[in-house]
Amino acid sequence: MWNKTTLSQQLQIDYPIIQAPMAGGHTTPELIAAVSNSGGLGSLGAGYMAPEEIRETVRKIRKLTDKAFSVNLFIPENPQEDHAKINKINKVMALYRQELGLPPLAETSQYGPPFEEQMEVVLEEKVPVFSFTFGLLAKEWIAELKAERIPIMGTATTVKEAIVLEEHGVDMLVAQGSEAGGHRGTFLSDAEDSLIGTFALVPQIVDQIKIPVIAAGSIMDGRGIAAALILGAAGVQSGTVFLTCNESGTKPVHQEALLYHTEEETRLTRVFSGKLARGIKNKFMLEMQVHQENVPDYPIQNVLTQDLRQAAARQELPEYMSLWAGQGLRLCRKISVQELMKEMVAGVEESLHRIK
Ligand SMILES: Cc1cc2nc3c(=O)[nH]c(=O)nc-3n(C[C@H](O)[C@H](O)[C@H](O)COP(=O)(O)O)c2cc1C
Repeated sequence: MWNKTTLSQQLQIDYPIIQAPMAGGHTTPELIAAVSNSGGLGSLGAGYMAPEEIRETVRKIRKLTDKAFSVNLFIPENPQEDHAKINKINKVMALYRQELGLPPLAETSQYGPPFEEQMEVVLEEKVPVFSFTFGLLAKEWIAELKAERIPIMGTATTVKEAIVLEEHGVDMLVAQGSEAGGHRGTFLSDAEDSLIGTFALVPQIVDQIKIPVIAAGSIMDGRGIAAALILGAAGVQSGTVFLTCNESGTKPVHQEALLYHTEEETRLTRVFSGKLARGIKNKFMLEMQVHQENVPDYPIQNVLTQDLRQAAARQELPEYMSLWAGQGLRLCRKISVQELMKEMVAGVEESLHRIK
């Protein structure tokens, strides 16, 4: 049976289909539980969450499902604070803040939740699966997770990153192709040099490592899953297709953008966060493009644009929001998780039957 892969066996799930962790309120407990209850693996994008919020959310998920799910965090980065650069970009963005009725930005030195405390919650709550992106997890945390027998999943965008992650001790890894929506997980080479399409990336990684490889990047339906399995992946991780599910926490204006835009309308940009990410083109992305070189590194720029993006979401102004989306967005539909999972599974079977 196609669904009995090393991944589904290791994670004890019926189907090797992972709903991607998507930080920023997309992955509600209802979405995660519905995926896990349908035989896949739901994932909490907890990168931006305060430690206690992670604990509460994990407990909520556990009330909705007794199946496995994963919690995902961002490996912290500590870029140099260049105050001249920060002031310069804040001046450029002041106009947008004015348009959204926001006061000038107050100074901050807090660039994200404390990672150590987030990890403590992951361990204390003994989450069923732990995944991470944007780098390498310190060996001490790997040892602690292993002591709790929590499977560990890393993210690679190149063969080199995959090899390093395997050597580092992760149990499985996500091979994130350049089609993928949201932030790139690149941590070794230049981000622009690490834009390898899913079809090129997956078999090249599969040839070099022994742990299960999970394909990610515009896998939207059973055809994509079948193709990934044929390329040697042990499973898939899909993000964009779950954003328009009824259970998703994605803002209605973002969902609408996903349903009405096409594959020609996404771009990779650094202007929202300082890190390369794929989203639907809008006014903020296009106008800020000329200032891209002056954008502070992640996570500084992410914090500088945070209340601007939040105000835009409250005011339902998609032109100023980060409308993360993968290149497969034309295949998004408004649908329940249960129905989507059912169609995905049937789609794999149909696709495999077709090429027999
Ligand atoms: C809205 C959004 C948010 C994302 N946030 C995260 C995240 O918090 N952690 C992570 O590892 N990956 C994140 N990703 C990337 C996904 O893990 C995955 O690589 C991607 O969704 C796959 O491509 P697809 O969106 O075309 O299916 C995000 C993707 C999207 C679309």
